[in-house]
Amino acid sequence: MTPIYLDNAATTQTDPEVVQAMLPYLGTHFGNPSSIHSYGRVTRTAIEQARKQIASFLGASPSEIFFTSGGTEANNMAIVRSIRDLKIKHAISSPIEHHAVSHTLEALRDEGEISLSWVNIDAAGTVDLKHLESLLQENPGSFVSLMHANNELGTMLPLRETAELVKKYQGVFHSDTVQTMGHFPINVQEIQVDFLNCAAHKFHGPKGIGFIYIRSGTGIHPFIYGGAQERNMRGGTENLPGIVGLAKALEIANSHLDEHSQYIRGLKNYMAEKLRTEISGVEFNGDISENSLYTVLNVSFPPSQAGEMLLFSLDIQGIAASGGSACSSGSDVGSHVLKAIGADASRSHVRFSFSKYTTPEEIDRTIEVLKGIFIADKSPMNA
Ligand SMILES: Cc1ncc(COP(=O)(O)O)c(C=O)c1O
Repeated sequence: MTPIYLDNAATTQTDPEVVQAMLPYLGTHFGNPSSIHSYGRVTRTAIEQARKQIASFLGASPSEIFFTSGGTEANNMAIVRSIRDLKIKHAISSPIEHHAVSHTLEALRDEGEISLSWVNIDAAGTVDLKHLESLLQENPGSFVSLMHANNELGTMLPLRETAELVKKYQGVFHSDTVQTMGHFPINVQEIQVDFLNCAAHKFHGPKGIGFIYIRSGTGIHPFIYGGAQERNMRGGTENLPGIVGLAKALEIANSHLDEHSQYIRGLKNYMAEKLRTEISGVEFNGDISENSLYTVLNVSFPPSQAGEMLLFSLDIQGIAASGGSACSSGSDVGSHVLKAIGADASRSHVRFSFSKYTTPEEIDRTIEVLKGIFIADKSPMNA
């Protein structure tokens, strides 16, 4: 049984081309990029080339890109440093942000540094921009953190429109772009965003490396103090192979953006349609329209005994997916995202997420396995 990987929103398979690009920096080129001798100069050049390349994809200046350990660190840096250094007293976010955003904001609120407002969302997780405007009117100069695409639901934020709204009320705007970087074109000259982030492992790059984009003139201090690395903004010897791999992964992603997005959106639509026609009672959480994050399909299966063990049953059959329940009883803390959109706790919710490596045959086999699970289920709940 060949395993099927449908959990690409969690992480993706590293592209072999990325691995090849990294190998010399795990072997021959081992110099510390801060060293002034030739060993260091070679690796410093590789880092600065990667930074330049990444900046050009975003329409940014290389001086606005700072390497981090990934999306979480970049989110923490943007939030903590802006609130402290820009003396911001109020923040606005949504109840469906990744915990790297929501827990950071909640910690600052609990420590008495800010007051925090949650913007309303609808049942698909779409941010209510009218409510956002009223919160901004009441609290001009707020720090606003809203993710570009939700990692569980695939629902997206209109980035440019939101940025304009935040700027109309003198706010500072951060968007968690971990799920969209490498999947959508993003140009910071067209979007008035102050902070963006990236995690390479979401688009076939290595884990433990990412970056934060900080608009020049933002005026924040380092998040990690130490050496002079990253122009004094993030101490610590750089993750050299990671940085090289990140740039390579972004280069591959950007040069195939249209082709891969069309292919993957086709898989999402195909799976949604097949599920709808072949398993009765299937519904979808979040956005499945053409405006959604094409890598994510969140499926809500009807209540059944089989459904309670759904992820486990799929895993036994070699299919990797993920999900969370909408409940929060017992040891199961549930998904804060599903709870926030009011998902039915009696149903089973599974997130299938795709990549350029996913095939239609894998979708077909997954549907057959799901049919086997649901159609064989004769539980009273299913009657
Ligand atoms: C939307 C979002 N933000 C942030 C992160 C955190 O990224 P990392 O684990 O690379 O720090 C993730 C990863 O799952 C994510 O999906």
